[in-house]
Amino acid sequence: MKILTEGSFDGKKVLLRCELNVPLKDGVITDDTRIVESLPTIKYLLEHNAAVIIMAHLGRPEGTGYEEAFSLAPVAEHLKSLLGREVTLAGDCFGDKTAAQAEALRSGEILMLENVRFVKGETKGSEEFAEKLASYGNVYVNDAFGTTHRAHSSTAIIAKFFPNDKYAGKLLEHEIVNLEKLLKTPARPFTAIIGGSKVSSKIDVLKNMAEKVDNLIVGGGMAYTFIKALGGTVGNSIHEDDKIDIAREVMEVCKEKNVVFALPEDTVVADAFDNEANRKTVPTMEIPDGWEGLDIGAASIEKFKNIVRNSKTILWNGPLGVFEMDNFATGTLEIGKTVGEISQQGAFSAVGGGDSIAAVKKLGIASQISYISTGGGAMIEYLEGKTLPGIAAL
Ligand code: 3PG
Repeated sequence: MKILTEGSFDGKKVLLRCELNVPLKDGVITDDTRIVESLPTIKYLLEHNAAVIIMAHLGRPEGTGYEEAFSLAPVAEHLKSLLGREVTLAGDCFGDKTAAQAEALRSGEILMLENVRFVKGETKGSEEFAEKLASYGNVYVNDAFGTTHRAHSSTAIIAKFFPNDKYAGKLLEHEIVNLEKLLKTPARPFTAIIGGSKVSSKIDVLKNMAEKVDNLIVGGGMAYTFIKALGGTVGNSIHEDDKIDIAREVMEVCKEKNVVFALPEDTVVADAFDNEANRKTVPTMEIPDGWEGLDIGAASIEKFKNIVRNSKTILWNGPLGVFEMDNFATGTLEIGKTVGEISQQGAFSAVGGGDSIAAVKKLGIASQISYISTGGGAMIEYLEGKTLPGIAAL
């Protein structure tokens, strides 16, 4: 895979795939991490005298044409203010007018194509659409790490039209270097903290992680499937019965490999999914009917902190409770603080997943974390050991 420093971009039209899928509330960007992290590549290309055509998606539109709620307009505006230079947003990513805009683009100028997912072909990996996009430029750069797990037209298929002119951007390179560091040469002890509520999308990564880490902490919504596998009662807590066997396998691997497997001992339960619901702390193995676990308890916080404090490498993906609700945020915030502290003392910390990043930002410790991944699903699939189509294509 070639990186930017191996290319020459002077006078070239660079098709740059960025990961600009940012959260929006009422049309306002609530977290611009992915845009900010895309800046180094955009600036590099501009400084090297390229004309830059940005391709990106936002959300999951129908794929049947323009939808205002998924327009990249707020993203283009924000990028413009961060760069302090013009960013022209095309009306679509295939029309004659857009082709003319791409044609007329000069070195040092930026054209952003509208959401590539307005075209059904994008998510289907259409070769025809990839070829159309490819016709706008003479070099392809992929910097959209967060979408490399998708074999879409603009993330993977397009690369075949640039057999000698395809490069990984700086963000993609940075993500791979750090993920490889985690997987291949972690300083030990290595601890993974896996939380969040997406049990089915994350449980597979636990098996792979169990082969690599010294300590595996499972908390948040992930924990209850394991509690059930161990014969505990989970009340209304989030869990997936069809993943119980995998949960058992994960614990088996940990036993075989002498990995410390840590689940919460106590849990803050509530009688409704509401910040103001009645709440109490109970042993995690005995969550009563009608109650659901929404945070880890004080004893679990201490137990997890001790493990984290004795680690040299920490991977954190997924919150340990429903931290968006103040009454159930303590576990996530306390563990986050400890991850920040030990990073300052020289440990290598990696944080991924939108919710964990939001927690780190809420705590104001983002600058203490060694590496914040812009990938959600992509980071997980990389850690699972899967081949990501966007990377393979380069
Ligand atoms: C993400 O936010 O993880 C990426 O942009 C991929 O989005 P997707 O899950 O809609 O493909």
